[in-house]
Amino acid sequence: MKKNNTDFNIKNINEVVTLYGWVAKKRNLGGLIFIDLRDRSGIIQLVVNPDNKYYNLAESLKSEYVIKVIGKIKERENKNFNIETGEIEVMIDYLKILNTSIEIPFSLTDTNALEDTRLKYRYLDLRRKEIQSKLITRHKIAFAIREYLNCLGFLEIETPILCKSTPEGARDYLVPSRIFNGKFYALPQSPQIFKQLLMIGGMEKYFQIAKCFRDEDLRADRQPEFTQVDIEMSFVDEDDVINVTEGLIAYVFKEIKNIDIKLPLKRMKYDDAINLYGSDKPDLRFDMKINDITDIFKNTEFTIFKDTIDNNGIINCLVVKNSANIFSRKDLDKLTDFVKNYKAKGLAYLKIDTEITGSIAKVISQSELDNLKTKLNLENNDLVLIISDKKSITKQALGALRLKLGKQLNLISSNYELLWVVDFPSFEYSEEEKRYVAAHHPFTAPKDSDIDKLLVDKANCYSKAYDIIINGYEAGGGSIRIHDQEIQKKMFEALELTDEQINEKFGFFVDALKYGTPPHGGLALGLDRLTMLLTDTDNIRDVIAFPKTASANDLMSECPNLVDESQLKELGISIK
Ligand code: AMO
Repeated sequence: MKKNNTDFNIKNINEVVTLYGWVAKKRNLGGLIFIDLRDRSGIIQLVVNPDNKYYNLAESLKSEYVIKVIGKIKERENKNFNIETGEIEVMIDYLKILNTSIEIPFSLTDTNALEDTRLKYRYLDLRRKEIQSKLITRHKIAFAIREYLNCLGFLEIETPILCKSTPEGARDYLVPSRIFNGKFYALPQSPQIFKQLLMIGGMEKYFQIAKCFRDEDLRADRQPEFTQVDIEMSFVDEDDVINVTEGLIAYVFKEIKNIDIKLPLKRMKYDDAINLYGSDKPDLRFDMKINDITDIFKNTEFTIFKDTIDNNGIINCLVVKNSANIFSRKDLDKLTDFVKNYKAKGLAYLKIDTEITGSIAKVISQSELDNLKTKLNLENNDLVLIISDKKSITKQALGALRLKLGKQLNLISSNYELLWVVDFPSFEYSEEEKRYVAAHHPFTAPKDSDIDKLLVDKANCYSKAYDIIINGYEAGGGSIRIHDQEIQKKMFEALELTDEQINEKFGFFVDALKYGTPPHGGLALGLDRLTMLLTDTDNIRDVIAFPKTASANDLMSECPNLVDESQLKELGISIK
C-alpha cells in the first residue's frame, strides 16, 4: 500500500521511496523544477534536474495532475519548518503521469473562494487541508465514541430509514410507496421510537451513529440531513444517563484535544437558564447575566414601565461594564434595531457617570436610579440596557443581545464551557393553537413530583429531560421516558390527543409499551455539532463531507430535482 508523504523525514536521507499524489504546485527556478506533491497527509517537495530524462515530462505537469514518482530523499538546503517534510526533498529518478486534470475552477489555497463554488465542486474542496482535517477529526470522534460505549457494554444497532413518521416535531421528509400508491414512508427525524422498542426488546444498552432527517428552517448549525450519536439504556434514571454521557464527552475531549473536562458538569435548571441568560442553551464563556429590575419600578410613574407591569410584563436589563463611553447614539440605535428583530418594542439605556445620561435618565425618579445603582452595583462608565415587555420577549431579546455584545466586545473566553440544562417544562404554550403542547416528544417522563399536575397545572409541570450545552450550542438532549401505562395515558390526555389520533400516530408503539416495558431513558448527541465545536468552526457544512446549502440544495448533484414522468406514474403521483 502507498506510504504517506509525511511518513518521511530527515531520518530517511538517502532512502529510495515511491510516492503518489497530486501536483499542488510546480515552479521552475533557474532550470531546476520543484514540485509540491500533495497527498492526504501533506506536502513533500520533489526536484528534477535539467539533465534528468524526465525533465520534459516534469515541465509538462500542471496543477492537480496525479503522478507516481520514485526518487531518493535528500536533505534540503533551504529548510521549510512550516511543513512536516520541510527538511527533506526527493530527487526524481522516475516519473509517471497517472492522470491529467482540466483546470480547476478555484484555487485550493484561496480561502476566499465562494462557498457555492466550493460546494458545487465539493470533491475538489475535499482536497483542501482545512476540510480534510475536519473530516479526519470527525472520524476520530466517531471512533472514540464507539470505543467508549463498547467498553461500557453498549451495542451498536441499526434502525430503519424508511419508517413511519417519528414524533420529533419537525416536518418529515416523505418517500412515496410504489407498491402502495398514495401511501408514504417518512425518513426518521431520529430513531426515537425504534430505540425505545429496542429497550422493550431487551437490548438494555443501545447506541447508533444515526442519520436523521428534518425538513425545518436551516441555520448555521442545522442541516436537513444530520447525524446523531443516539443512546438508550434500560433500568436508569436521569443521573445514569447524564453520567454516561458526560463520561463519554470527557473521553472524546481528551482523545481529540487532550483537554481535561472537569466532571461532574454543572447543572442549571431550565428556568434559571432562561431568567439569567435568556436562553435554554446559555453560553457560559462570558458572564453578563440578565438582571430582573421589575421590583424597582413597581410604583413608577414612567408610563412605559408602568404599562408593562400592569400587563404582567417584566423589566430586565444587561449591564455592560466599563463600556458606556464606546457606545455612540448610533451604536445604541443599532442595538435597538437588533432587539426589535426579537419583537421587543424598544431598548432603553442609561450611561452611568457622575451625571447619569441616557434615553430614560430624565423620566425615572432619583430613588429608582439609586435603587438601580445599588442592586446592580453600578460604577462609572457602565452601560445599562433595558427592555420592558412580555416575559418571553424580554428574555429572548436580552439573551440574543447578550450574545451579540459578547462577540462584539470580545468577552468570549477561549475555554470550553459545558453544562447540563435540566428540569425542562413538560409543556409549552402554543400561541397559535391556544393550548399547551408537548415541549419534547410525548413519551418524555414528567418529574415524579409533577405527575399529579399533568392535567391540572400544565404550566408548572416539569420533565425528566436534559440537554448538554457546549459553548452555547445544544450539543445533545434526551430524557427518561414514560414506561408506566397510566402515566402515558394521562400524558396523551394532557396533550388533548384523541384515541383515534393516538392510534393513528403511535398505535403500534403504544401497544408495545403494554408488554413489560423496562424503565428506560437516553439521549442523542449531535455529531455534526460536536465536531464543529472540536474543530473550531461555526459552519456545520465544514464538518460534513457532502453538505446541503442553507436552502437544502446539493449544488454538486443538483438535488432536489425533477424525476421522470414514468417514475411519477409508477408512484401514482401527478405534480400540480
Ligand atoms: P433532539 O431533537 O434534541 O433530540 O436532537 C438531538 C441533537 O441532535 C442535534 N440536532 C441537529 N444537528 C444538526 N442539524 C439539525 N437539523 C439538528 N437537529 C438536532 C442537536 C440536538 O441536541 N430523539 C431525541 C433524543 C432523545 O430524546 O433521546 C432527539 O432527537 O445537537
